Amino acid sequence: MKLTRRSAIARTALSALGAPVAGSLGAFQLAAQTSQSGTSETDARQAATRAQRMQWWHDARFGMFIHFGLYSVYGHHEWAMEQEAIPVSQYEKLAAQFNPKKNAARDWARLAKRSGQKYMVMTTKHHEGFCLFNSKLTDYCAPKHAAGRDLVAEFVENVRAEGLTPGFYYSLMDWHHPDGAKCATDEAARRRFVDYIHGQIRELLTNYGKIGVLWYDVAWPLDAQGWESEKMNKMVFDLQPDIIVNNRNKLEGDFSTPEQVIRAEAGGRAWESCMTMNQSWGYQAADDDWKTSKTIVRNLITCARDGGNYLLNIGPRGDGSIPEESVEIMSSVGRWMDGNGESIYKAQPSSVKRSAYANFTRNGNTLYMHVYFWPGSEVRISGLRNKVLSAKLLRSGTPVNVVQDEFATRLTGLPATAPDDPVTTIALVCDSEPVQDTDWVRKNRARGRA
Ligand code: GLC
Repeated sequence: MKLTRRSAIARTALSALGAPVAGSLGAFQLAAQTSQSGTSETDARQAATRAQRMQWWHDARFGMFIHFGLYSVYGHHEWAMEQEAIPVSQYEKLAAQFNPKKNAARDWARLAKRSGQKYMVMTTKHHEGFCLFNSKLTDYCAPKHAAGRDLVAEFVENVRAEGLTPGFYYSLMDWHHPDGAKCATDEAARRRFVDYIHGQIRELLTNYGKIGVLWYDVAWPLDAQGWESEKMNKMVFDLQPDIIVNNRNKLEGDFSTPEQVIRAEAGGRAWESCMTMNQSWGYQAADDDWKTSKTIVRNLITCARDGGNYLLNIGPRGDGSIPEESVEIMSSVGRWMDGNGESIYKAQPSSVKRSAYANFTRNGNTLYMHVYFWPGSEVRISGLRNKVLSAKLLRSGTPVNVVQDEFATRLTGLPATAPDDPVTTIALVCDSEPVQDTDWVRKNRARGRA
């Protein structure tokens, strides 16, 4: 929940009168509240550099999310520890079995590259509390157990080897740390726990070179004051001035994170829709509810159409191998991106949206029509208010014949069956920024007799 300046002032006034303030942790909280009203130095610094820091990310449009941890060995989803109420002492034993094969991260990075993804965000520590990186602050980390090595270092190295940008997911909530719940009610525990969390973020952003994205997750059980999120972000930007951060440490950060849905943000705020290919982030052996590659490509198109990014998840097994279904889906997405990537990267928001069988993206005056249910030799757009100067099938470059009247844009003489799979993209160069008005068609088209 965001505190407005007014509510912060009201609370300050109340506490000055000696009235109890719910959840108050004392003076530092009030200071932090004021700074949350959007006037803090970190906020201003973040805002001033945002456009430049985020350019690569906006251009990229498509990234890979990787959920990897002890839950990958168990294979019941990343929430298994809590949802099956497994005692910590028993769950910890998974660390003795967690030793991913040597080339796991290389295979993920190659798959991401082949699929047209430009950045990769891996869980460096999920809610289970086990760290994939070498931490001086805990022994509960991969290098000090069966894996015997720093999996974050391996990840970063392989991501860079493919020319992609590494990002770190980091869960604030921690089911393993002794103070992970107590911190809500015990100030000494909160102090220890917040120092631990800030300390680990410092390690992550100090030891692995330049990192593109910091992806916080689940802030339970504290609020922004409790986490000292202002201070957290300040440290992050001091360590990595070019990084971008999400909004899950209870501050707004640089971008929003709609989860399992595609939902554009108002006012041009940046957003990234994160999504699973089946229903689980972490490996769940029995989850067979896979999306088709057509659904994934259509989702990517919708994100690009509305100015957002698509962060698509894989949940490798404990040995690091990627479920075959994910590989198949990603390979098909990659083949599509090979011929059609130009319609996704650097796409600008498109106001042209309406069709019963196609979706749209845009770059300047070029409109990309993505036909996912191929209707046959003629494809139509209603209410396009621009003159189309030329059109072609994007993958093959084959010119497409265009016939326009004031209501319909008709693309004629096309093959009877879809030329591309799973979506056929037609690039239409227009005389100005493409605009569609189907209301105008409804109101003005000649009607029949009553
Ligand atoms: C949720 C879940 C978590 C997953 C994340 C991805 O917050 O708790 O398991 O990592 O979403 O967005």
